[in-house]
Amino acid sequence: MRVVFVGPPASGKGTQAKFVCAKFGIAQVSTGDMLRAAKTAGKLPADLVAKMAAGALVPDDVVIALIDERTRAADCAPGFLLDGFPRTVPQARALGDMLTGRGVERGAELSLDVPRDLLIERAVLRRTDKRTGQIYHLKYSPPPPGADLEHRADDHEEVVRKRLDTYEAMTADLLPYYAGLGILRRVDGVGTMDEVTARVLGALGAK
Ligand code: AP5
Repeated sequence: MRVVFVGPPASGKGTQAKFVCAKFGIAQVSTGDMLRAAKTAGKLPADLVAKMAAGALVPDDVVIALIDERTRAADCAPGFLLDGFPRTVPQARALGDMLTGRGVERGAELSLDVPRDLLIERAVLRRTDKRTGQIYHLKYSPPPPGADLEHRADDHEEVVRKRLDTYEAMTADLLPYYAGLGILRRVDGVGTMDEVTARVLGALGAK
């Protein structure tokens, strides 16, 4: 099983990805998580660290190579969910070529639609547990006492606005590209997490 989540920053891709991956026993592959892990390990070049901190995208060839290698790992054999990739038409084409080259079908492509004001609130109040990777929200999904919380460097409001601008500019081509292929299913991402999960599972033909 292969699923692709596209959607703006803080639309709930990571939150919903965890439910979908647990339900279907597939691997969650998040380019953002991989890049942050590389940064923490001191393995991300300084120019890419700066791009992420400024809310810009890293170059296509970097994330395409990451995805190509990561999706060959054993835990991806039953299937995988791509969270945050592709973001550009060249990335989408590379993914299509990658899957065709491996003789596998594309799978489902879902976009989560959430209005800009709500995206800003979701990002600015997001906190992540450094130990477990669990995503919380100070208003909608408060962390338990004692959680070791991190506020992402790119979740400060001015950077969030820049990320949203970047997303809108880059995906102005991506979403029509997918729509043209007739494989994009749009999911309303507004509502409680459970409501959105039900819509996502419905779009995947599951309950
Ligand atoms: P990445 O980590 O992919 O960031 P993103 O796409 O901006 O997505 P987020 O992680 O911000 O949000 P999300 O949609 O997963 O939302 P979440 O579930 O956490 O990328 C970071 C950077 O890496 C990029 O800016 C770029 O520099 C680089 N990068 C990554 N991929 C790249 C690529 N392919 N090409 C080039 N560069 C790339 O939810 C957000 C918050 O809302 C949480 O607090 C959550 O608890 C809350 N929430 C979720 N759902 C609900 C709900 N239904 N109701 C209320 N609250 C909710």
